[in-house]
Amino acid sequence: MTLLAVETSCDETSASVVRDGAVLSNVVSSQIKLHAEYGGVVPELATREHLRNWQPVTEAALRAAGIAVADLEAIAATQGPGLPNALMIGFKAAQALAFALSKPFVGVNHHEAHLYSPWITGQPPRADFKHFEPNVSLIVSGGHTMLVHVRAELDHIVLGSTLDDAAGECFDKVGKLMGLPYPGGPELDRLAAEGSATAHDFPRPLLREANDDFSFAGLKTSVRYFLQKNPALLDDGRALRDVCASVQAAIVETLVTKTVRAARRLGVGCVTASGGVTCNRALRAGLESACRRHRLSLRLAERSLCTDNAGMIGVLAERKLLHGGTTTLLDAEIEPGWHLA
Ligand code: KG4
Ligand code: ZN
Repeated sequence: MTLLAVETSCDETSASVVRDGAVLSNVVSSQIKLHAEYGGVVPELATREHLRNWQPVTEAALRAAGIAVADLEAIAATQGPGLPNALMIGFKAAQALAFALSKPFVGVNHHEAHLYSPWITGQPPRADFKHFEPNVSLIVSGGHTMLVHVRAELDHIVLGSTLDDAAGECFDKVGKLMGLPYPGGPELDRLAAEGSATAHDFPRPLLREANDDFSFAGLKTSVRYFLQKNPALLDDGRALRDVCASVQAAIVETLVTKTVRAARRLGVGCVTASGGVTCNRALRAGLESACRRHRLSLRLAERSLCTDNAGMIGVLAERKLLHGGTTTLLDAEIEPGWHLA
Protein backbone atom coordinates (compact mmCIF):
# COMPACT_ATOMS: atom_id res chain seq x y z
CA MET A 1 0.00 0.00 0.00
CA THR A 2 1.28 3.50 -0.82
CA LEU A 3 0.28 6.07 1.78
CA LEU A 4 0.93 9.77 2.41
CA ALA A 5 1.12 10.97 6.03
CA VAL A 6 1.11 14.53 7.34
CA GLU A 7 2.17 15.73 10.83
CA THR A 8 1.57 19.29 12.15
CA SER A 9 0.85 18.79 15.87
CA CYS A 10 3.45 21.22 17.22
CA ASP A 11 6.41 23.00 15.62
CA GLU A 12 7.42 20.61 12.85
CA THR A 13 5.66 20.48 9.48
CA SER A 14 6.29 17.01 8.11
CA ALA A 15 5.11 14.77 5.26
CA SER A 16 6.10 11.21 4.46
CA VAL A 17 5.38 8.56 1.86
CA VAL A 18 5.23 5.01 3.24
CA ARG A 19 4.92 1.92 1.09
CA ASP A 20 4.54 -1.57 2.55
CA GLY A 21 6.36 -0.60 5.74
CA ALA A 22 9.18 1.25 3.98
CA VAL A 23 9.54 4.96 4.69
CA LEU A 24 10.24 6.18 1.14
CA SER A 25 10.52 9.82 2.22
CA ASN A 26 10.21 11.74 5.47
CA VAL A 27 10.51 15.50 4.98
CA VAL A 28 10.59 17.62 8.15
CA SER A 29 10.53 21.42 8.21
CA SER A 30 11.44 22.43 11.75
CA GLN A 31 10.40 25.81 13.18
CA ILE A 32 12.89 25.70 16.07
CA LYS A 33 14.80 28.78 14.86
CA LEU A 34 11.60 30.80 14.55
CA HIS A 35 10.43 30.00 18.10
CA ALA A 36 13.92 30.23 19.68
CA GLU A 37 13.65 34.01 19.70
CA TYR A 38 10.66 33.72 22.08
CA GLY A 39 12.12 30.96 24.25
CA GLY A 40 9.31 28.51 23.42
CA VAL A 41 6.69 27.57 20.84
CA VAL A 42 4.34 30.44 19.95
CA PRO A 43 1.12 28.71 18.76
CA GLU A 44 0.03 31.49 16.39
CA LEU A 45 3.41 31.54 14.65
CA ALA A 46 3.43 27.73 14.44
CA THR A 47 0.01 27.79 12.76
CA ARG A 48 1.11 30.33 10.14
CA GLU A 49 4.24 28.32 9.40
CA HIS A 50 2.21 25.13 8.92
CA LEU A 51 -0.13 27.00 6.56
CA ARG A 52 2.85 28.20 4.55
CA ASN A 53 4.73 24.91 4.61
CA TRP A 54 2.37 21.97 4.42
CA GLN A 55 1.99 22.10 0.63
CA PRO A 56 5.70 22.48 -0.34
CA VAL A 57 6.67 19.90 2.31
CA THR A 58 4.08 17.45 0.94
CA GLU A 59 5.30 18.05 -2.61
CA ALA A 60 8.89 17.50 -1.50
CA ALA A 61 7.92 14.20 0.19
CA LEU A 62 6.17 12.96 -2.96
CA ARG A 63 9.11 14.04 -5.14
CA ALA A 64 11.70 12.40 -2.88
CA ALA A 65 9.70 9.16 -2.94
CA GLY A 66 9.19 9.32 -6.72
CA ILE A 67 5.44 9.02 -6.19
CA ALA A 68 2.67 10.96 -7.97
CA VAL A 69 -0.46 12.05 -6.12
CA ALA A 70 -2.44 9.67 -8.33
CA ASP A 71 -0.37 6.71 -6.99
CA LEU A 72 -1.54 7.27 -3.40
CA GLU A 73 -3.83 4.59 -1.98
CA ALA A 74 -4.47 6.14 1.44
CA ILE A 75 -3.92 9.40 3.36
CA ALA A 76 -3.11 9.81 7.05
CA ALA A 77 -2.58 12.71 9.45
CA THR A 78 -2.00 13.37 13.13
CA GLN A 79 -5.41 13.93 14.74
CA GLY A 80 -4.11 14.71 18.27
CA PRO A 81 -2.88 15.51 20.81
CA GLY A 82 -1.28 18.85 19.98
CA LEU A 83 -1.80 22.57 19.45
CA PRO A 84 -5.38 22.92 18.11
CA ASN A 85 -4.76 25.31 15.23
CA ALA A 86 -1.53 23.60 14.23
CA LEU A 87 -3.21 20.18 14.16
CA MET A 88 -6.06 21.56 12.10
CA ILE A 89 -3.83 22.59 9.19
CA GLY A 90 -2.36 19.15 8.45
CA PHE A 91 -5.46 17.21 9.43
CA LYS A 92 -7.88 19.19 7.26
CA ALA A 93 -5.44 19.36 4.32
CA ALA A 94 -5.05 15.56 4.46
CA GLN A 95 -8.81 15.03 4.69
CA ALA A 96 -9.30 17.28 1.65
CA LEU A 97 -6.72 15.28 -0.30
CA ALA A 98 -8.41 11.98 0.66
CA PHE A 99 -11.75 13.46 -0.44
CA ALA A 100 -10.37 14.63 -3.79
CA LEU A 101 -8.71 11.26 -4.47
CA SER A 102 -11.59 9.15 -3.03
CA LYS A 103 -9.08 7.26 -0.88
CA PRO A 104 -9.33 6.04 2.74
CA PHE A 105 -8.25 8.46 5.48
CA VAL A 106 -6.73 7.59 8.87
CA GLY A 107 -6.41 10.02 11.82
CA VAL A 108 -3.52 8.95 14.05
CA ASN A 109 -2.74 9.51 17.73
CA HIS A 110 0.68 11.20 17.83
CA HIS A 111 1.82 9.28 20.94
CA GLU A 112 0.73 5.93 19.57
CA ALA A 113 2.91 6.70 16.54
CA HIS A 114 5.90 7.45 18.84
CA LEU A 115 5.20 4.08 20.51
CA TYR A 116 6.00 2.13 17.34
CA SER A 117 8.79 4.39 16.02
CA PRO A 118 11.55 2.25 17.66
CA TRP A 119 10.54 -0.55 15.27
CA ILE A 120 11.47 1.57 12.23
CA THR A 121 15.11 0.82 11.43
CA GLY A 122 17.73 0.75 8.69
CA GLN A 123 18.53 2.91 5.72
CA PRO A 124 16.17 3.46 3.99
CA PRO A 125 14.06 3.14 7.13
CA ARG A 126 11.58 0.29 7.23
CA ALA A 127 9.12 -0.99 9.86
CA ASP A 128 10.36 -4.27 11.32
CA PHE A 129 7.25 -5.76 12.92
CA LYS A 130 8.51 -9.29 12.17
CA HIS A 131 10.70 -8.99 15.26
CA PHE A 132 8.06 -7.26 17.38
CA GLU A 133 7.92 -8.41 21.00
CA PRO A 134 5.82 -7.22 23.93
CA ASN A 135 7.61 -4.32 25.61
CA VAL A 136 7.60 -1.49 28.08
CA SER A 137 7.91 1.72 26.13
CA LEU A 138 9.18 5.07 27.38
CA ILE A 139 7.87 8.08 25.46
CA VAL A 140 9.80 11.23 26.38
CA SER A 141 9.10 14.43 24.50
CA GLY A 142 8.80 18.12 25.20
CA GLY A 143 5.22 17.84 26.41
CA HIS A 144 4.93 14.27 27.69
CA THR A 145 6.69 11.59 29.69
CA MET A 146 4.92 8.25 29.60
CA LEU A 147 5.47 4.59 30.36
CA VAL A 148 3.36 2.25 28.25
CA HIS A 149 2.98 -1.52 28.30
CA VAL A 150 2.71 -2.64 24.67
CA ARG A 151 1.20 -6.10 25.06
CA ALA A 152 0.93 -6.85 21.35
CA GLU A 153 0.92 -4.89 18.13
CA LEU A 154 -1.77 -2.19 18.38
CA ASP A 155 -2.60 -3.26 21.94
CA HIS A 156 -1.23 -1.12 24.73
CA ILE A 157 -2.02 0.22 28.18
CA VAL A 158 -0.54 3.36 29.72
CA LEU A 159 1.20 2.55 33.02
CA GLY A 160 2.02 6.07 34.13
CA SER A 161 2.71 9.56 32.94
CA THR A 162 3.93 12.94 34.02
CA LEU A 163 2.08 14.63 36.89
CA ASP A 164 3.50 18.07 36.05
CA ASP A 165 6.51 18.99 33.91
CA ALA A 166 7.60 16.44 31.30
CA ALA A 167 11.28 15.47 31.03
CA GLY A 168 11.82 17.58 27.89
CA GLU A 169 10.05 20.52 29.50
CA CYS A 170 12.39 20.17 32.49
CA PHE A 171 15.46 20.16 30.22
CA ASP A 172 14.11 23.24 28.41
CA LYS A 173 13.14 25.18 31.56
CA VAL A 174 16.46 24.43 33.28
CA GLY A 175 18.20 25.55 30.08
CA LYS A 176 16.26 28.83 30.26
CA LEU A 177 17.26 29.33 33.93
CA MET A 178 20.88 28.96 32.82
CA GLY A 179 20.44 31.40 29.95
CA LEU A 180 20.98 28.71 27.30
CA PRO A 181 19.34 29.02 23.87
CA TYR A 182 15.99 27.29 23.23
CA PRO A 183 15.45 24.36 23.22
CA GLY A 184 17.56 23.64 26.30
CA GLY A 185 17.60 19.83 25.89
CA PRO A 186 20.22 19.52 23.13
CA GLU A 187 22.31 22.34 24.72
CA LEU A 188 22.34 20.63 28.13
CA ASP A 189 23.28 17.35 26.43
CA ARG A 190 26.24 19.09 24.74
CA LEU A 191 27.50 20.89 27.86
CA ALA A 192 26.88 17.90 30.16
CA ALA A 193 29.26 15.79 28.06
CA GLU A 194 32.14 17.86 29.49
CA GLY A 195 30.86 18.10 33.07
CA SER A 196 30.78 15.92 36.17
CA ALA A 197 27.48 14.14 36.80
CA THR A 198 28.32 13.71 40.50
CA ALA A 199 29.25 17.36 41.17
CA HIS A 200 25.80 18.19 42.62
CA ASP A 201 23.08 15.98 44.05
CA PHE A 202 19.74 17.06 42.58
CA PRO A 203 16.50 15.26 43.55
CA ARG A 204 15.34 12.12 41.70
CA PRO A 205 11.56 12.78 41.76
CA LEU A 206 9.23 9.85 42.54
CA LEU A 207 12.15 7.44 42.12
CA ARG A 208 11.30 5.38 45.19
CA GLU A 209 7.51 5.58 44.81
CA ALA A 210 5.70 2.38 43.86
CA ASN A 211 4.08 3.82 40.74
CA ASP A 212 4.98 4.47 37.10
CA ASP A 213 4.35 8.23 37.17
CA PHE A 214 6.88 11.02 36.72
CA SER A 215 7.19 14.53 38.12
CA PHE A 216 9.97 16.91 37.15
CA ALA A 217 8.67 20.27 38.40
CA GLY A 218 10.35 19.81 41.81
CA LEU A 219 13.71 19.11 40.18
CA LYS A 220 13.40 22.28 38.11
CA THR A 221 12.53 24.30 41.25
CA SER A 222 15.50 22.90 43.15
CA VAL A 223 17.79 23.91 40.26
CA ARG A 224 16.25 27.40 40.38
CA TYR A 225 16.99 27.77 44.12
CA PHE A 226 20.46 26.31 43.64
CA LEU A 227 21.27 28.87 40.92
CA GLN A 228 19.83 31.72 43.00
CA LYS A 229 22.18 30.73 45.84
CA ASN A 230 25.16 30.26 43.53
CA PRO A 231 24.79 32.90 40.76
CA ALA A 232 28.53 32.96 40.05
CA LEU A 233 28.27 29.43 38.60
CA LEU A 234 26.52 30.86 35.53
CA ASP A 235 29.63 32.83 34.57
CA ASP A 236 31.99 29.92 35.02
CA GLY A 237 31.98 27.61 32.00
CA ARG A 238 33.36 24.63 33.90
CA ALA A 239 30.96 24.94 36.83
CA LEU A 240 28.04 25.39 34.44
CA ARG A 241 28.96 22.15 32.69
CA ASP A 242 28.97 20.36 36.06
CA VAL A 243 25.46 21.65 36.83
CA CYS A 244 24.25 20.52 33.38
CA ALA A 245 25.74 17.04 33.87
CA SER A 246 24.26 16.73 37.38
CA VAL A 247 20.75 17.82 36.30
CA GLN A 248 20.89 15.50 33.32
CA ALA A 249 21.99 12.62 35.57
CA ALA A 250 18.97 13.19 37.86
CA ILE A 251 16.55 13.13 34.90
CA VAL A 252 18.21 10.13 33.26
CA GLU A 253 18.44 8.04 36.44
CA THR A 254 14.74 8.63 37.12
CA LEU A 255 13.69 7.68 33.58
CA VAL A 256 15.95 4.62 33.34
CA THR A 257 15.18 3.23 36.81
CA LYS A 258 11.41 3.53 36.45
CA THR A 259 11.40 2.08 32.92
CA VAL A 260 13.49 -0.97 33.78
CA ARG A 261 11.58 -1.53 37.01
CA ALA A 262 8.26 -1.60 35.13
CA ALA A 263 9.65 -4.02 32.53
CA ARG A 264 10.88 -6.41 35.24
CA ARG A 265 7.65 -6.20 37.22
CA LEU A 266 5.58 -7.02 34.13
CA GLY A 267 7.96 -9.76 33.00
CA VAL A 268 8.48 -8.39 29.49
CA GLY A 269 11.83 -8.99 27.79
CA CYS A 270 12.04 -5.78 25.81
CA VAL A 271 12.27 -2.04 26.45
CA THR A 272 11.79 0.67 23.82
CA ALA A 273 12.17 4.46 23.91
CA SER A 274 11.09 7.31 21.64
CA GLY A 275 10.34 11.04 21.57
CA GLY A 276 12.70 14.02 21.35
CA VAL A 277 14.50 13.41 24.67
CA THR A 278 15.52 9.95 23.40
CA CYS A 279 18.12 11.87 21.35
CA ASN A 280 19.89 12.51 24.68
CA ARG A 281 23.20 10.65 24.75
CA ALA A 282 23.21 10.01 28.50
CA LEU A 283 19.67 8.59 28.35
CA ARG A 284 20.60 6.28 25.46
CA ALA A 285 23.73 5.11 27.30
CA GLY A 286 21.85 4.74 30.60
CA LEU A 287 19.12 2.60 29.03
CA GLU A 288 21.73 0.52 27.20
CA SER A 289 23.69 -0.35 30.32
CA ALA A 290 20.61 -0.95 32.53
CA CYS A 291 19.01 -3.21 29.92
CA ARG A 292 22.25 -5.13 29.46
CA ARG A 293 22.50 -5.60 33.23
CA HIS A 294 18.95 -6.94 33.46
CA ARG A 295 19.11 -8.96 30.21
CA LEU A 296 16.41 -6.93 28.50
CA SER A 297 16.55 -6.27 24.79
CA LEU A 298 16.44 -2.57 23.92
CA ARG A 299 15.09 -0.71 20.92
CA LEU A 300 15.80 3.01 20.80
CA ALA A 301 14.13 5.05 18.07
CA GLU A 302 16.75 6.25 15.61
CA ARG A 303 17.67 9.88 16.28
CA SER A 304 15.99 11.21 13.13
CA LEU A 305 12.77 9.45 14.17
CA CYS A 306 12.85 10.56 17.84
CA THR A 307 11.68 14.09 17.13
CA ASP A 308 8.33 14.71 15.45
CA ASN A 309 8.05 13.34 11.91
CA ALA A 310 5.36 12.09 9.56
CA GLY A 311 7.20 8.80 8.86
CA MET A 312 6.07 7.34 12.19
CA ILE A 313 2.50 8.56 11.52
CA GLY A 314 2.51 6.82 8.13
CA VAL A 315 3.92 3.53 9.46
CA LEU A 316 1.23 3.30 12.17
CA ALA A 317 -1.57 4.37 9.78
CA GLU A 318 -0.61 1.65 7.30
CA ARG A 319 -0.47 -0.91 10.14
CA LYS A 320 -3.95 0.15 11.25
CA LEU A 321 -5.34 -0.15 7.73
CA LEU A 322 -3.84 -3.61 7.33
CA HIS A 323 -5.07 -4.82 10.75
CA GLY A 324 -8.78 -4.26 10.77
CA GLY A 325 -8.96 -1.43 8.30
CA THR A 326 -10.48 1.18 10.59
CA THR A 327 -10.68 4.53 8.82
CA THR A 328 -11.54 8.02 10.03
CA LEU A 329 -14.48 10.00 8.64
CA LEU A 330 -13.71 12.92 6.35
CA ASP A 331 -15.71 15.25 8.59
CA ALA A 332 -14.00 14.05 11.79
CA GLU A 333 -12.52 16.79 13.97
CA ILE A 334 -9.07 17.15 15.47
CA GLU A 335 -8.57 15.84 19.03
CA PRO A 336 -6.15 18.30 20.73
CA GLY A 337 -6.54 16.59 24.12
CA TRP A 338 -6.43 12.99 22.84
CA HIS A 339 -4.22 11.22 25.35
CA LEU A 340 -3.27 7.58 25.18
CA ALA A 341 -5.19 5.32 27.56
O1 KG4 B 1 9.23 14.83 20.55
P1 KG4 B 1 9.66 16.25 20.37
O2 KG4 B 1 10.36 16.62 19.09
O3 KG4 B 1 8.47 17.26 20.46
C1 KG4 B 1 7.37 17.10 21.27
O4 KG4 B 1 6.42 16.38 20.84
O5 KG4 B 1 7.40 17.68 22.38
O6 KG4 B 1 10.59 16.61 21.63
C2 KG4 B 1 11.17 17.86 21.83
C3 KG4 B 1 11.88 17.83 23.17
C4 KG4 B 1 12.37 19.21 23.62
O7 KG4 B 1 12.00 19.39 24.97
C5 KG4 B 1 13.89 19.09 23.48
O8 KG4 B 1 14.61 19.88 24.40
C6 KG4 B 1 14.10 17.62 23.76
O9 KG4 B 1 13.03 16.99 23.11
N1 KG4 B 1 15.39 17.15 23.25
C7 KG4 B 1 16.41 16.77 24.04
C8 KG4 B 1 17.48 16.43 23.19
N2 KG4 B 1 17.08 16.60 21.90
C9 KG4 B 1 15.79 17.06 21.95
N3 KG4 B 1 16.49 16.68 25.38
C10 KG4 B 1 17.66 16.26 25.90
N4 KG4 B 1 18.74 15.94 25.15
C11 KG4 B 1 18.70 16.00 23.81
N5 KG4 B 1 19.76 15.66 23.08
ZN1 ZN C 1 6.15 14.08 19.63
